Amino acid sequence: MSQTLQAIRGMNDILPDDAELWEEFEDLVRQWLRAYGYRPIRMPIVEPTPLFSRAIGEVTDIVEKEMYSFEDRLNGEHLTLRPEGTASCVRAVLQHNLLYDGPKRLWYMGPMFRHERPQKGRYRQFHQVGVEALGYEGPDVDAEQILMGARLWHDLGLRDIRLELNCLGQAEERARHRSDLIAYLSGHADRLDDDARRRLHTNPLRILDTKNPAMQEMVEGAPKLLDYLGGESLAHFEGVQRILRDAGIGFSINPRLVRGLDYYNLTVFEWVTDRLGAQGTVCAGGRYDGLVVQLGGKPQPACGFAMGVERLLALWSDQGNRLERPVPDVYLVNQGEAAARHAFRVAEHLRDIGLAVQHHCGGGSFKSQMKRADASGAALAIIIGDDEAAAGEATLKPLRESAEQRRVAFDELADAVGAWLYGDDDDGGV
Ligand code: HAM
Repeated sequence: MSQTLQAIRGMNDILPDDAELWEEFEDLVRQWLRAYGYRPIRMPIVEPTPLFSRAIGEVTDIVEKEMYSFEDRLNGEHLTLRPEGTASCVRAVLQHNLLYDGPKRLWYMGPMFRHERPQKGRYRQFHQVGVEALGYEGPDVDAEQILMGARLWHDLGLRDIRLELNCLGQAEERARHRSDLIAYLSGHADRLDDDARRRLHTNPLRILDTKNPAMQEMVEGAPKLLDYLGGESLAHFEGVQRILRDAGIGFSINPRLVRGLDYYNLTVFEWVTDRLGAQGTVCAGGRYDGLVVQLGGKPQPACGFAMGVERLLALWSDQGNRLERPVPDVYLVNQGEAAARHAFRVAEHLRDIGLAVQHHCGGGSFKSQMKRADASGAALAIIIGDDEAAAGEATLKPLRESAEQRRVAFDELADAVGAWLYGDDDDGGV
């Protein structure tokens, strides 16, 4: 016998118990986004590779080592499975000229792909809900996006998520800081690890984000970007903080928060929990005013964030939340050829009035079918055998209460089932 094939490492099946939870989460997320005026957009999962190298930055972990890139065998195009959604979203907005009549608030949801080392909370295929506001300049949209996060954690009943905030200023401010930073780090060349040495002249800001304990002390003493910010950047940052304070959202400023994608400027933020081990960032984002131009559009400010669905749902379960398994209203038991034909009509008729019906397929004795009916969690079994078929009736049998079963004519079935399920039955039985 040949060996069963397995999914790719770091790419997970989401089995029915979990998938139902995902659906619940997605429903809630849709309502939440609507409450803030965001509209959905769906982009392809595969994009031209240069989109990501241009948007995310050539010298980032994602572009250097984590992208699933390949050549289209038919036309030689360089393609990549999207590692994130912002670049695709901005491409779509430019391609379809969506900003022609003013700013847009957009969101998307779906799988992203990064060839990282899989561990708890870090996968090679993972899912994001991403939110992008394009064409908005002031700190109000940045702050609103942060308030959105706070509301969602509240709606989901999630605790222990803290907010970290930083301001990356503008390109000129970062350039001045960068040259001082390179000078400082070069002066401590003996303390740099291989990764840092490689990044020294390409992406020194990322060195500040090092996890290497041997470099912590040296990094603490490095020039801080916040000290290089001019009046406008500081005013923007202060504007965001003021709205957060007014709304009672707690935050801490983390000057070492630099993010792993190069398109950010001004506000950056991360929502972090200590409950998930090393992969504690459940949501992250910030302002990216330069990206539209970088991807060939006319200048447009923008701000957004994305949350990791696997991480949020892991936190949700970790905090003791459980989902009730959805069950059918009715389990339809049927035996014999004539009964089977009636059963199809009855099932469709009950679905017409909005009921969830699990129709027993595949035959079997009444006893085995009733076992399935019981296991399904349905409140009510409808039984159609030869007797019932001949009489034009079905038997209604309550499965969760000790009420008597009774026979009902087919054309009265919908009313009887509806009355029983929705409780306006006066004799308490079926
Ligand atoms: P990011 O920080 O790379 O930002 O990813 C956002 C979130 O996706 C992370 O905070 C995390 O929850 C989740 N995530 C990332 N990688 C993985 C992984 N390998 N496994 C599981 N979850 C993961 C972005 O992607 C930006 N596009 C966010 C953004 C939108 N900025 C502006 N607009």
